[in-house]
Amino acid sequence: MLHEGNIYLMDYAIKNMPEADAVLEIGSWGGLSTNLQLHLMRKYGRKEQFLGCDPWIYEGIHDETKGPADTIDGNDLLKRTEYMDYIMQSFQRSVQLFQPNDLPYTIRATSDDFFDWFDRNAVVTDVFGRTQKLEGRLAYCYIDGNHAYDFAKRDFENAAKHLVPGGFILLDDSSDGSFCGSARLMHDIKKNRAFQIVEKNPNYLIRKVV
Ligand SMILES: C[S@@+](CC[C@H](N)C(=O)[O-])C[C@H]1O[C@@H](n2cnc3c(N)ncnc32)[C@H](O)[C@@H]1O
Repeated sequence: MLHEGNIYLMDYAIKNMPEADAVLEIGSWGGLSTNLQLHLMRKYGRKEQFLGCDPWIYEGIHDETKGPADTIDGNDLLKRTEYMDYIMQSFQRSVQLFQPNDLPYTIRATSDDFFDWFDRNAVVTDVFGRTQKLEGRLAYCYIDGNHAYDFAKRDFENAAKHLVPGGFILLDDSSDGSFCGSARLMHDIKKNRAFQIVEKNPNYLIRKVV
């Protein structure tokens, strides 16, 4: 789930991000990248709030051709909803174990819903049952949700809107030659003068120009 090259990029972003209100992770799965980034925030004494979103809805490999099924690809005994509830519970348990004092404000929602609520400063309930008002500006966003072009593009545009000048975006699966929509999106971003490339390793870390 996590390309090891991202670790260096996350370390760089969290160490060098400008001061702002929050960090956002889009796509949390079982909590690996959440735990890593919260560890890095402690390492660098960063106090920004850690926000996250994930609908925990399994995207089957045959969905686009055969339509969504109730079960996981190739395993008719495993219900899709039960599998994703299990993954979300794994997220809850792993961050509760490793981040007892720094729990992230992660909500079960798509990034589109997250940004809609963020724009309206809505009060939401996170996966730990805490209420939180979504507000402020972002220092850094890790985009690792739906990797299809249209979804990744909306995530980039929404994150860019809320990012402070000098803030970072790490776009997962954006490496040259990747088949993902995120890589196609990266071609567009290279022409966007509001952003500069900081590093590719092999995914791209970009920074909003001040
Ligand atoms: C590659 S996994 C994330 C891995 C995680 N960041 C890690 O490294 O441990 C992608 C996640 O994106 C989530 N996802 C899918 N569509 C999404 C959307 N529209 N908004 C937010 N997350 C989404 C999936 O449920 C899945 O958990």
